[in-house]
Amino acid sequence: GCLTLLEDAGYYFGPNVQPEHIINLQNFKARPDDTLVVTFPKSGTHWLNEITSMLVNRYRNLSPDTMKHLEYLPVDVLDELPSPRVLCTHLPYPRIPLDFLRKRCKIIVCLRNPRDIAVSYFKFITNLKAWNYSGYWDGFFQLFLNGNIPYNSWFEHTDTWLKVARVGKHNVHVVFYEAFQADFKTAVTQLSDFLGISHTGEFIDDVHRETSFQNMKQNKEDYTLVLSKDGKSPIYRKGEVGDWMNWFTPEQIHLMDQEMEAWGLHLEPRIMYTLDTEED
Ligand code: A3P
Repeated sequence: GCLTLLEDAGYYFGPNVQPEHIINLQNFKARPDDTLVVTFPKSGTHWLNEITSMLVNRYRNLSPDTMKHLEYLPVDVLDELPSPRVLCTHLPYPRIPLDFLRKRCKIIVCLRNPRDIAVSYFKFITNLKAWNYSGYWDGFFQLFLNGNIPYNSWFEHTDTWLKVARVGKHNVHVVFYEAFQADFKTAVTQLSDFLGISHTGEFIDDVHRETSFQNMKQNKEDYTLVLSKDGKSPIYRKGEVGDWMNWFTPEQIHLMDQEMEAWGLHLEPRIMYTLDTEED
């Protein structure tokens, strides 16, 4: 199969993204009360977006809307959204509209085990009508490792955002998909503290219940089905930690470990491997 890619100044985007739109986003007007959810694709964008949206708007149920994705919505639509806005993007740090940084908007960076991301990404593009991709896992794994996919290298994307978070100049909070899976209450409490939102245990329970994989799939998968080749949602697939173990060959495990080492990316072992066997 062949992977269709659009190139803009060294970055690859999917077939539905217009390069002019990405360039125009440089002039995007942020508001101080915007919250921006940043992810590499397949890291839990929909999940974190929904959690954040419930927290910010104090919804007791799932929001009735779809995600407000910078790359996909026209600027005039984004401009007209009421405050406080919860927006999301897959853009790498150098491409983030500057105004989000100038206005010190809250930025949530959601990371996930790249092994699970690679599998999720493979299943995703294989199932998208727009992609016309029918490659094998082995080939896709190499594309992922080399960054020849939309939004390029997961390693560079993650390394750059982690450095920005560590420097502490911007209002960036890093969260992990796996942490929300392992201990939702703690993860969501830390997130709402970052957002400056007070929360009762009851409210956190509402967010937990509403944003469960099953509930989101039931209520939010409809609009994703039209994108799909096989009638199954390309977004709400498994929603699990560790599916990569069903896909990676020993050689792929080794290549991935090597690349992580080369980038000096030492995410917690319990995030990188499985959470099920951990005692605590
Ligand atoms: P899998 O393909 O591993 O199942 P994104 O939103 O960034 O495209 O990420 C999609 C991934 O997040 C998919 O992973 C999907 O199943 C998972 N996901 C979506 N909603 C979720 C939820 N409420 N809880 C846990 N995982 C969820």
